[in-house]
Amino acid sequence: PPVSSLVVAIDGPSGSGKSSTSRGVAGRLGLRYLDTGAMFRAITWWMLAQGVDLTDPEAIAAHADEPQIESGTDPDNPTIRVDGADVSVAIRSDEVNAAVSPVSAVPRVRSRLLELQRQIIGAGGIVVEGRDIGSVVAPDAPVKVYLSADAQARAIRRAAEAGGDVAATQDSLLARDRIDSGRATAPLVLAEGAVHIDTTPYTLDEVIEQVVTLVEALEAEA
Ligand code: DC
Repeated sequence: PPVSSLVVAIDGPSGSGKSSTSRGVAGRLGLRYLDTGAMFRAITWWMLAQGVDLTDPEAIAAHADEPQIESGTDPDNPTIRVDGADVSVAIRSDEVNAAVSPVSAVPRVRSRLLELQRQIIGAGGIVVEGRDIGSVVAPDAPVKVYLSADAQARAIRRAAEAGGDVAATQDSLLARDRIDSGRATAPLVLAEGAVHIDTTPYTLDEVIEQVVTLVEALEAEA
């Protein structure tokens, strides 16, 4: 397919290098970029701010349609707004880290965001990162990648980005992994047709190169 209609789906657990890789690939190929994790974080941030009881899935579901969420798709300047306010920084807090997986497990939250995600993807020309992109959001994507890395390597990367203690970061990552992989609706899985790259031994540039090579191989075939 021509690059303009291309969808590149990039899934994997927290800290596997999805965001940096996805932005890098989008930049190299002149594609848009969508961080679906930021959308789940934004809805979680809003629920925390509203005082919604996040131990109650029915309360979460009842409010899932209320916040207006807008995702920017420039890989050089990813933005996320809730009811018009830029929450790009606020959605990376420890409070959101701790609450986002339970909120994301609620089916009503997922169906609401799925609709927005499909609108943004539209006719394509985009790299989309998340947990269920290759399996649920864009199962027909011609390029699907599953990134993983050792838990310790992921914790070291995240702690270096966000600051903080490696051991505590690792505990928080593993707690989210368990919920994201174990939930009933759209769990993190290796999607059918996805290429698995274990990024542990590679630099970011090497991983970007591997994904770009996959896209170029597909174009050469077409
Ligand atoms: O990619 P991230 O770590 O910013 O994602 C935060 C959380 O959002 C993740 O722990 C689970 C949820 N998520 C999801 O359920 N489905 C997606 N497609 C993306 C993220």
